[in-house]
Amino acid sequence: MTTTAVPLDLPTADWLDPADLAHNPYPSYERLRREAPVVWAPLVKKVLVSSFEGCSFGERHPEVFSSNVAGGTMAKALGGRPLIRKDDPEHAAERAPMNRTLRPKQIMDIWADKFEINARRYLEEMIFNGRGAADLNTAYAAPVAAKNLCDMLGMPDVEPMDLARWSIDFIAGTGNVLDKQEIWDRCERSRAECDAALDETVARLRRRPDPSITSMLLEAGMAEEQVRNNVKLTISGGMNEPQHMITNMVWLLERSPEQKAEVLANPELWKQVFTEATRLFSPIGMITRQSAADINLHGVVIPAGTQIGMILASANRDPGQFTQPDVFDIHRPSGTNLAFGAGVHQCAGKWAAQKAIGEIAVPLLYRELPGLRLDQSRPETWDGWVFRGLTSLPVVW
Ligand code: HEM
Repeated sequence: MTTTAVPLDLPTADWLDPADLAHNPYPSYERLRREAPVVWAPLVKKVLVSSFEGCSFGERHPEVFSSNVAGGTMAKALGGRPLIRKDDPEHAAERAPMNRTLRPKQIMDIWADKFEINARRYLEEMIFNGRGAADLNTAYAAPVAAKNLCDMLGMPDVEPMDLARWSIDFIAGTGNVLDKQEIWDRCERSRAECDAALDETVARLRRRPDPSITSMLLEAGMAEEQVRNNVKLTISGGMNEPQHMITNMVWLLERSPEQKAEVLANPELWKQVFTEATRLFSPIGMITRQSAADINLHGVVIPAGTQIGMILASANRDPGQFTQPDVFDIHRPSGTNLAFGAGVHQCAGKWAAQKAIGEIAVPLLYRELPGLRLDQSRPETWDGWVFRGLTSLPVVW
């Protein structure tokens, strides 16, 4: 079976419903883990792996869980194949230059001050424009995440909400399994705008290199087309998730007054709040791989050439790994959760996100607005499962 035929000899989950998944995927994940943690899902034409053990094994065995996925939508959406769709050593050569500016020390030395400036700027705007009430998602989370990414990419003059729109379009294209032309048209428009901005950025960075991700990729001598593919990947992967983590953290703290009081009294705990929030509401629900050989997992043989969806959001609620997995508990023993993946493809922006969101943007929000609370009179909305988060979180202060 390559990516087209149905693997009839696998257990099948024909009951998965896109509306249920978008509304609240966790009951479906629970059923998958309980009934068959390795299962053929006609809905997405993939074998789904939903256990912690299975996802963890897949992440750590790229020689059989290959990232070189055939005929994927991502390359079409971005206009080329970025590093996340490659295996080592090809992947490692493109990843190493990014790491040079995204390790914890560089985050402290180069980026932390910028993250602070950006968070302050959009918080002041929200307070000024909102006069006591706002949608935290659009007024704060989105512009903070977008501006941080503009800076890290060496594109400080790009309008942050343009970058946010490109990100939304690239993500829609990457998920465009139904091949909707309207979505490809949006991707094409956003690619053209992004490429025009990159014309200026690349010319400037060749003259005057700086510590940005784009500059690091250029300095490594990578072909310009590949630099552009990886910048577009970073735009699609580095915006949505930090944005969602701002609102996820606030949503969770507002429902856990005791833990909220604890972290406000002891700011050392912010890292734990961030990590536990990424576990419970993992912004990237599923990642894709392709089997490079027959794989026996949980007693089921996945034939070579099969597209596999590893459901990280389900793995992170596996009771075999986490006690009371649906409970928000910032005092869990420190250990691995898979919100950022693991192994060679583990998120390149993990330290940036932890610092920018977990240690700067959300703590600042509570410091400056001690009266912040959810607005009970206006509904919040959640959406998505492959990428999931709050699309609206009304707050008052
Ligand atoms: C809370 C925020 C974030 C979450 C939860 C997250 C999650 C992830 C996940 C699950 C992966 C895939 C790992 C895998 O395939 O094994 C990934 C990859 C990646 N992320 Fe993030 N991410 C976040 C923020 C960021 C940011 C801020 C950036 C950029 C500055 C970024 C850049 C990347 C890149 C470049 C990759 C590809 C890595 C590779 O293939 O080697 N991410 N991320």
